[in-house]
Amino acid sequence: MDILLIGSGGREHALAWKLAQSPKCEQLYCAPGNAGMAELAECVALDILDNDAIVAFCQEKGISLVVVGPEQPLVNGLVDALSAAGIDAFGPDAYAAQLEGSKQFTKDLCAEFAIPTAGYQWFNNAPKAKMYVRQHGAPVVVKADGLAAGKGVVVATTVEEACDAIDNCFEGAFGEAGARVVVEDYLEGEEASLFAICDGQTAMLIGTAQDHKRVGDADTGPNTGGMGAYSPAPILTQKLIDEVMQDIIVPTLAGMHARGHPFKGILYAGLMLTREGPQLIEYNVRFGDPECQVIMPRLKSDLVELLLAASQGSLLEVDAEWDERSALTVVMASKGYPGAYKKGHVIKGVESAEEMGALVFHAGTSLNADGELIATGGRVLNVTAYGRSITNAQAAAYEAVGQIKWDGGFCRRDIGWRAVERETE
Ligand code: AMP
Ligand code: GLY
Repeated sequence: MDILLIGSGGREHALAWKLAQSPKCEQLYCAPGNAGMAELAECVALDILDNDAIVAFCQEKGISLVVVGPEQPLVNGLVDALSAAGIDAFGPDAYAAQLEGSKQFTKDLCAEFAIPTAGYQWFNNAPKAKMYVRQHGAPVVVKADGLAAGKGVVVATTVEEACDAIDNCFEGAFGEAGARVVVEDYLEGEEASLFAICDGQTAMLIGTAQDHKRVGDADTGPNTGGMGAYSPAPILTQKLIDEVMQDIIVPTLAGMHARGHPFKGILYAGLMLTREGPQLIEYNVRFGDPECQVIMPRLKSDLVELLLAASQGSLLEVDAEWDERSALTVVMASKGYPGAYKKGHVIKGVESAEEMGALVFHAGTSLNADGELIATGGRVLNVTAYGRSITNAQAAAYEAVGQIKWDGGFCRRDIGWRAVERETE
């Protein structure tokens, strides 16, 4: 069958790498793709927010399955448009994508279905929100309701800071996304992520991971899309995984079913592991980036079979096999990221990193007129390595990173530190 993959990041390169290995995949198209994906697929310059253009492309090429990487096209109703045209698509419809697209939607669902999450109130004006914060006290967490590219959350340690964040939202810092604000109790604990593939009725675990959101070593500096990840996350023991599946994922599927929009796709649960047990911080409705770059390498089964089963409601009939080893990925980014950065620096040494056994997934890359690889984005490469432990995977990943020669780039030097500390104990 011919498959169209939507997106152009490291997540999508990892998906393309795995899709292309499937005997079921004849021709793979990527829209818009990147230089790494172009080695596996035909890249097409489609606007990923233009549903009509994507449907027309699928009809013209006879595409049998569309796999959507990022959240915006899901929230924008791409899966609804494809389904209406009779084209199989992997991912939730626009209604179900509200699990990521609206914090208020998710919090209300949690309240209705007794899913453990921080206590909250939502507001559509600043005075009421600030009055609540003054009564409630700090620390407290202020969140813009809608999609804000990871920038809409402030963990406020003082009431003043929380009030500033509320004003900021209602003054339009996040546009429409800040028209409503959720104010949440502060949760204390360690964060981890759990990924489940869902077919509307059934959920199957497809991995656990820990991300590194801050740009600097020792978790310092501003937040980013993610500077590295590893899988599995040893902190999520089997007992905790069972608890999350039973108390969080299963009731979420039941809740979405009850609302007439069964959830199909990836449920990515951002969790806080508190002393009282795991609590849901947020949902995403897609694979994580860079978490996908450590989950795909561990999947031994055919990804196309899994995605088809999820989109057709037959997950119970398939099984997934996993590599015993751990995987760890280091993100290499342009100097200046997540702020302003220069584009166009030449990158060398990717082949040498691959010769050492690493997988190098591209994000913001392209080829210049001389056919050299150049950096064209903030996050640029993801260097993934396997190991018998996270400690081993970390060593292998940094050895491979050492092969890459790129003047304009940098990476964190401590990806995996939590798990390495645990393994050292
Ligand atoms: P979110 O976009 O909802 O995942 O929030 C971004 C980050 O803010 C999370 O990864 C946490 O580090 C932090 N955060 C969000 N909600 C809370 C909370 N209720 N308590 C403590 N930290 C939080
Ligand atoms: N790595 C965080 C995310 O994909 O949202």
